[in-house]
Amino acid sequence: MLLEKTEILTVSDGVPDAIDRKKLAHAAEILRRGGTVCFPTETVYGLGANALDAAAVEQIFLAKGRPQDNPLIIHLDAIENAEKYCFAAENPYLERIRHFFPGPVTAVLKKRDLIPDVVTASLPSVGVRVPSNPVAHAFLALCGVPVAAPSANLSGRPSPTCAQHVIDDLYGKVDVIIAAGNSSVGLESTIVSLVVDPPMLLRPGGVTAEQLEEALSPAPLLLSDAVLSEMKPGDKASAPGMKYKHYAPKTPVSLVSGPKEHATEFLREKQRTERCAVLAFSEDVSSLLPTQVFDIGREDDPEENARRIFACLRATDRLPGITQVYVHITDDRRGVRLAVFNRLLKASAYRILYV
Ligand code: TXA
Ligand code: MG
Repeated sequence: MLLEKTEILTVSDGVPDAIDRKKLAHAAEILRRGGTVCFPTETVYGLGANALDAAAVEQIFLAKGRPQDNPLIIHLDAIENAEKYCFAAENPYLERIRHFFPGPVTAVLKKRDLIPDVVTASLPSVGVRVPSNPVAHAFLALCGVPVAAPSANLSGRPSPTCAQHVIDDLYGKVDVIIAAGNSSVGLESTIVSLVVDPPMLLRPGGVTAEQLEEALSPAPLLLSDAVLSEMKPGDKASAPGMKYKHYAPKTPVSLVSGPKEHATEFLREKQRTERCAVLAFSEDVSSLLPTQVFDIGREDDPEENARRIFACLRATDRLPGITQVYVHITDDRRGVRLAVFNRLLKASAYRILYV
């Protein structure tokens, strides 16, 4: 379905001023009337619709080409409003992680009946997120309804961390795109299920597993199998989205693991013999041939790796004729590195070359 026109509203990525507010109010009005609005958040851009309007939510699935059995999360301007849409107060764990809201985290809670089945793919639970990005916050407050939103990419593609990515994927398929700079985290939110006991990490992200563990203690935090291993057909998915192909550029991706010198030697050899693109750490770029190399930031700066990784994967799509994308990975899985590794595992369909 191609809409007649997608409105692109450019707003500042700092504190929204009076002019921006007018644009945001206009976008909120379109959303409240059943339209689809892409908006920035600190994790990635989202593709939003009124979560209380089943017909509007269906437009999200159509625009993205998303399977109907993959549930959406809802976005609120304040965690205090969660009680209206789910059983937040009675959950013994939400209070312990409350200080991460607003921020890059989603809590899965038991839902109330007013959230339509199309949002949650008929699950009895719903993911709740409160973005900290000021534009997202102002927009959600103006909407005044919970906003169902997946990442604003075509299904299967890397998530969008700037407005251009959203335009590339969804122009003509949504009513409005709010454009406001780059996402400061760059990876989707951490998802923690609080409807199982003990709580379970379903997707790692900007709020780290270590931070959640500390907050939930003495309760342990389980790690879903979906974080580090491949879902097989028929596996019961506690994180339904994890069974789908994800984050993949057009060219197959392979991850390269091993000591720095071995890895750069291996990558240089690949550059000489194959038409490939390489995603490398900043400090290694000068040891590689200069063409078709993308800098993902220093190895000791995982937050920067997180910010850059999706844009680098997308950039490889603009290189004609390449047959492989190689990504140098680190063995460290602590902190945000777990989230970066998780996305790269999915992008590469679990292909790791040990050198
Ligand atoms: O940072 C984010 O979370 C971004 C921004 C836009 O907020 N949104 C996002 O949404 O990444 P999406 O739909 O791309 O990823 C949400 C994931 C999916 O894998 C989905 O399967 C899972 O959350 N999910 C949603 N509801 C769930 C539920 N009730 N139980 C378990 N997993 C759920
Ligand atoms: Mg997504």
